Amino acid sequence: MDAARQLHPDWHPGKIPENVVVDPSAYVGTSYGFSRFRSEAPVGLRIGRAASLCDLTILDVGPRGRVVIGDYALVNGAMIICDSEVTIGDYALIGWDVVLMDTYRVPFDVALRRRALEQVPYESPRRLAADVPAHPIRIARNVWIGFEACVLPGVSIGEGAIVGARAVVTEDVPPGAVVAGNPARMVRNRASDSL
Ligand SMILES: CC(C)(COP(=O)(O)OP(=O)(O)OC[C@H]1O[C@@H](n2cnc3c(N)ncnc32)[C@H](O)[C@@H]1OP(=O)(O)O)[C@@H](O)C(=O)NCCC(=O)NCCS
Repeated sequence: MDAARQLHPDWHPGKIPENVVVDPSAYVGTSYGFSRFRSEAPVGLRIGRAASLCDLTILDVGPRGRVVIGDYALVNGAMIICDSEVTIGDYALIGWDVVLMDTYRVPFDVALRRRALEQVPYESPRRLAADVPAHPIRIARNVWIGFEACVLPGVSIGEGAIVGARAVVTEDVPPGAVVAGNPARMVRNRASDSL
């Protein structure tokens, strides 16, 4: 194993994939987060200056997936499911157990779903492998996403917006908006904050 791609210390005996570009000042908690990282893009993940990928942040990234994590962004144990593109801006704060998914991974059609489930035992690690559309997620600079929130495919969250804990974000959030609930709705507007 290429020792330069290993983390020290790391409880998981894995390594950082070759197509992951980590700024020397960035922090990655464990290589376990890459167990489901299958991106074949030249740069499948870029982690910016002093950014942090803490605790158990899982990067479930498909062959065409690309993830960008901006400078000083803090990702606190999120699940990132990406088959197209997930962008997290500079100074974004992603709370505990947030789910960012640019694809549902699951076919709506019941026959296709059954076929995908029948294939699960042949995948290693076991996973649902279905051909399902993906739509990029863009999280702008200075966004704060509260714990256990979920951002669905195709959603853009504008600069400085705040997403409440356990919100399900189904549509775009304007810059400076504070949204909460399921589906997420604006509860406040902080667009006048200095950014
Ligand atoms: C979204 C949040 C920032 C809003 O804070 P706030 O501006 O002080 O908002 P308020 O508490 O005044 O609530 C405004 C309204 O939104 C509702 N609301 C606030 N947060 C909510 C949430 N997470 N889910 C559902 N509704 C929520 C309130 O009930 C209130 O509704 P009302 O006007 O009908 O009474 C905050 O509630 C929150 O969820 N913070 C997340 C904290 C977190 O996850 N920390 C982890 C560290 S990363």
